[in-house]
Amino acid sequence: MTHYAEVIGDPIAQSKSPVIHEFWLAALGIEAAYRKTQVTAEGLGDYFAGRRDDPDWLGCNITIPHKQAALDFVEDRGDVRASIGAINTVFRSDGAIVGTNTDAAGFYAPIAGMDLAGQPVVVIGAGGAARAILFALARVGVERVTLLNRNPLKGAALLANFGLKGDALKLDSPLPPAALLVNATSLGMTGQPPLDLDLSVLPEEAVVYDIVYAPLETALLKAARARDLDTVDGLEMLIGQAALAFELFFGQAPPRDRDDELRALLTA
Ligand code: ATR
Repeated sequence: MTHYAEVIGDPIAQSKSPVIHEFWLAALGIEAAYRKTQVTAEGLGDYFAGRRDDPDWLGCNITIPHKQAALDFVEDRGDVRASIGAINTVFRSDGAIVGTNTDAAGFYAPIAGMDLAGQPVVVIGAGGAARAILFALARVGVERVTLLNRNPLKGAALLANFGLKGDALKLDSPLPPAALLVNATSLGMTGQPPLDLDLSVLPEEAVVYDIVYAPLETALLKAARARDLDTVDGLEMLIGQAALAFELFFGQAPPRDRDDELRALLTA
């Protein structure tokens, strides 16, 4: 048998992770596989019990709905439960199976060149992705975040959880000026309502970042480009979180100089 990693979730058919990891495995000539496996909520404990004893299993990525529940079955060496509260990657280390979250670093990598310390930031959303994003922003010295969400109470709790000051507002509130605006909701995704924001208040050096990658050019990114603002699309975070997981599974950094080919594959 060959070694393998996989992505688990329910449903799982939509996952792009196998395309990304298989592309890198082939590019590096690594003889291993990456597949998708449907695991139900009731089956999660049995899944980890079985894989723990499978010598070919190198680890897994975790997607909806298991990102929180999976914490109960793995070692939490980085204290992710208390911070982001969700894991997206499980890997083997010193005989243990360890959970971690690569979404935060995957989100941050494309904007690592920005000096965000003390800068005002707007985040739309208060779900799992928003948690990873707020964790990353707090870590790089952002102090004030305006968080827009359907439920501002949920937003306020999240800001407090990450020690961030700022305002939690309703989704249709006018935007304040900001150095960075991030959509961390599924709004704008194919089949979802669009995210309709008036960006005119953003300064011309502002960056607009959308985590939605289908479609790649969301209405939000289109509006930002119409204003000549810098943008980051959702494939950046998707590929970034996968790259960190890949290294944990297979022990080598993926060839990021081939991102253009990978992006073409993912949007074909
Ligand atoms: P993820 O892990 O991708 O972040 P999630 O935890 O379900 O998924 O979070 C989805 C986010 O998108 C949430 O902020 C959610 O708003 P609520 O916190 O009010 O639930 C937001 N969202 C999803 N569909 C939405 C809609 N139709 N209108 C407004 N917000 C929506």
